[in-house]
Amino acid sequence: MNFRHVISTSQFLNQDLLSDLFALADEMERGDQGKTLAPTLRNKIMATVFYEPSTRTRFSFECAMQKLGGSIITTENAASFSSAAKGESLQDSIRVISGYADVIVLRHPEKGSSQIASEVSSVPIINAGDGAGEHPTQALLDLYTIKKELGTLENLKIAVVGDLLHGRTVHSLTHLLTLYPTNTIYLVSPSQLQLPDNYKENLRNTGVSFQEFGDLKEVLGNADVVYMTRIQKERFSSEEEYEKLKSSYVFDRRALSLLKESAIILHPLPRVTEISSLQVDQDRRAAYFRQAKNGVYIRMALLQMILGNEKNP
Ligand code: NCD
Repeated sequence: MNFRHVISTSQFLNQDLLSDLFALADEMERGDQGKTLAPTLRNKIMATVFYEPSTRTRFSFECAMQKLGGSIITTENAASFSSAAKGESLQDSIRVISGYADVIVLRHPEKGSSQIASEVSSVPIINAGDGAGEHPTQALLDLYTIKKELGTLENLKIAVVGDLLHGRTVHSLTHLLTLYPTNTIYLVSPSQLQLPDNYKENLRNTGVSFQEFGDLKEVLGNADVVYMTRIQKERFSSEEEYEKLKSSYVFDRRALSLLKESAIILHPLPRVTEISSLQVDQDRRAAYFRQAKNGVYIRMALLQMILGNEKNP
């Protein structure tokens, strides 16, 4: 890889690196299933430093590192259990941890925190979510899942639904989709939760066509991918505003009946009420648990690319 830290998907400037990453993720999955994985990261230590809750991201990173023979040091609740609780700055924590680990996976409530961390870290920082900013590794696994499920990343209609204002996975995904301009993006959100202008501008500048909708039903008949997201309660300044918007979209049996047979439903998870578990999970188009599993292989590939290459600075 020609960059050291993974802060934003805007660092991916062409499809080549993604193709390499996806091929390596395929290889990781084959190696895992065939029990032929080599412990290539045996002498490496990954620190997972999470100041916000996580299930998939932290576990899948830790699982990925261990499958490649590496070790982990971790704090699952850095805000209360690390020295942050005593008032230590993020910078000081990172300066210290970067002396202990070969790579740091960081989740923090402040947008821009990974960038700040990268400026003081002596080892690579991987952004595992910086507030309402980005979540690049989730978007990598989202795109990888689309490729795996549909066999292509071209000429698709991709509906992104929910809290596009605060959804960091969506922000990172839109950057990656600019690399595939034959697709059309449907941005489906309440008017209060539309995708921020800078991401739309970016789509426009790279010639990706997109349309905005308020009603999910309008896009279901055409979509090849429906990417549902959670209304991000923790990013709202008013509980009342959240209550008003929390049930904006519910993907249920009726939505399924409008969806193409060949389409897939994705969700970065966790879901709250936006996909009916009872009515949708058993349908083969519900791909979100396969998507979550793909996170392990993408993160293995990423760690291998960052740490396994002697030439990487
Ligand atoms: C997402 C996140 O943390 O941004 N979760 C995840 O990492 N899979 C999505 C969310 O919290 O809604």
